[in-house]
Amino acid sequence: MIAVLDFGSQYTQLIARRLRSQGFATEVLSGQTDARTLAQRTPRPDGIILSGSPASVGQGHDPDPAILDLGIPILGLCFGYQWLAKVLGGQVVCATHREYGAAQVQKTPAGRSDLLTAKLSPKTQVWMSHGDSVVALPAGATLLLESNGKPSAFRVETSLGPGRRLWGLQFHPEVYHTPEGKVLLEAFARDICRLSPDWNLRSELEHVQAQLRVELAHVPEVVCAVSGGVDSTVMAVLLSKVTHVRALFVDHGFLRAYDLTNLRRVFDQYPTIRLEVIDAKDRFWGTLAGIADPETKRRGMGRLFVETFADHVGHSQFSHLAQGTIYSDVIESADNKLARAHTIKSHHNVGGFPDEWNRLQLIEPLRRFFKDEVREIGALLGIDPYILHQHPFPGPGLAIRCLGPLEPDRIEILRRADAIFHDELLARSLYDRTWQAFVVLLPVRSVGVMGDSRSYESALCIRAVSSVDAMTAEASELPLSDLKAIASRLVNEVAGINRVVYDLTSKPPGTIEWE
Ligand code: XMP
Repeated sequence: MIAVLDFGSQYTQLIARRLRSQGFATEVLSGQTDARTLAQRTPRPDGIILSGSPASVGQGHDPDPAILDLGIPILGLCFGYQWLAKVLGGQVVCATHREYGAAQVQKTPAGRSDLLTAKLSPKTQVWMSHGDSVVALPAGATLLLESNGKPSAFRVETSLGPGRRLWGLQFHPEVYHTPEGKVLLEAFARDICRLSPDWNLRSELEHVQAQLRVELAHVPEVVCAVSGGVDSTVMAVLLSKVTHVRALFVDHGFLRAYDLTNLRRVFDQYPTIRLEVIDAKDRFWGTLAGIADPETKRRGMGRLFVETFADHVGHSQFSHLAQGTIYSDVIESADNKLARAHTIKSHHNVGGFPDEWNRLQLIEPLRRFFKDEVREIGALLGIDPYILHQHPFPGPGLAIRCLGPLEPDRIEILRRADAIFHDELLARSLYDRTWQAFVVLLPVRSVGVMGDSRSYESALCIRAVSSVDAMTAEASELPLSDLKAIASRLVNEVAGINRVVYDLTSKPPGTIEWE
């Protein structure tokens, strides 16, 4: 197993996903995990990767130096590379400007025969994203790659004590823009850590199911909240193979026109899933009507969701509560101050249940899997591909796509527009050409002309983005002819809208949702 120590880099999860997709078992652990804890883990790591970080070396987030002497090979990336250089006696400087983007690296004579870099092309493109640089390698280090005469990879091997086998890369092999990155990751796992690529999802799934069978052997029913999204749907279906599932769905009044129908269509196929729809529309509207501030909407939705769920099941007798937590939720909500510092919006779907629920046994069968792995598990379980590949839909629903004060009439306009937009995307085969696409009702009215008369109605924005993991996104380049036809339908068929605009902003600096 390879342990990836997370120092808050936006790419940490990508390192683990890449390695797993190449067949190597990988776990992400907090960067503050000390050497003793690492050594005592079962299974004991065969290799350690140190991630990048928004912090610089020496700012209080450095790894425990004792990891150097565990006798486990280490690969430091970016911040990890700089830390290795510094802790071993090299020199790291804070550059005046950040180096960000594609760069060429070239193998040194030593790089041609090194276990990590031997299989790389003599010159290759890599992705740099760093402020600090290593200007002098530590004594005893071997330079493996350089870029414009500056070091970009080194190795340190000593036979002292348990032996140190350390490698560092200034750039990010885990990102798509480093085309030969997988060669480096595979060389580390296979040739340096001596691992075989035998990790695969089918056997992991069998393992999880076998564990659930033991854990739930005497449990007649498990309770869970479902949202219609990929994670909770896969979780409920997975559990339904082992026991009965009481699946609770909170209708908060900010759903899309087709959410409930889709949910029923999926769960109806499983006799061991009992779907219960909680009609909480009045409760949510009672608190949220008229609210315009995005964070007040989000926090209100989060609190009301938990209260509604707790009230509904509060008096029933049940012992096991299942949650569709996935690996990225676990990592993001872990005690990682760096990652937390970079939370931009409050997402409401993690944690927050009342204290008295501590007596409940929590079942999280997907907590070790990444999103794309959850989709694959869903496919192995036979779930409809449309459900598995649906665009993400935020927990607070249409409430955060209705800018300005929440009013039932405005939500209805948005719901109608969303349904038309969604149908058009499917009919025009555009749904799968974009990572996420939706409409946003703007708190802006403008003048138009409908028939012979003047109109003064709301503007609607189409937001469509391409992304890999929602961390960054670009506006999708949907054909203008399709966009114009869709805009025309929206204006003609949805009363209250007389103008449609297209959002061209990337993330960052924008976010995908508008609130
Ligand atoms: P942003 O707007 O932060 O969105 O760029 C990134 C991705 O997260 C989704 N999103 C949410 N998902 N609960 C969720 O389950 C939320 O509160 C929430 N807010 C945003 C968003 O749709 C996009 O895919």
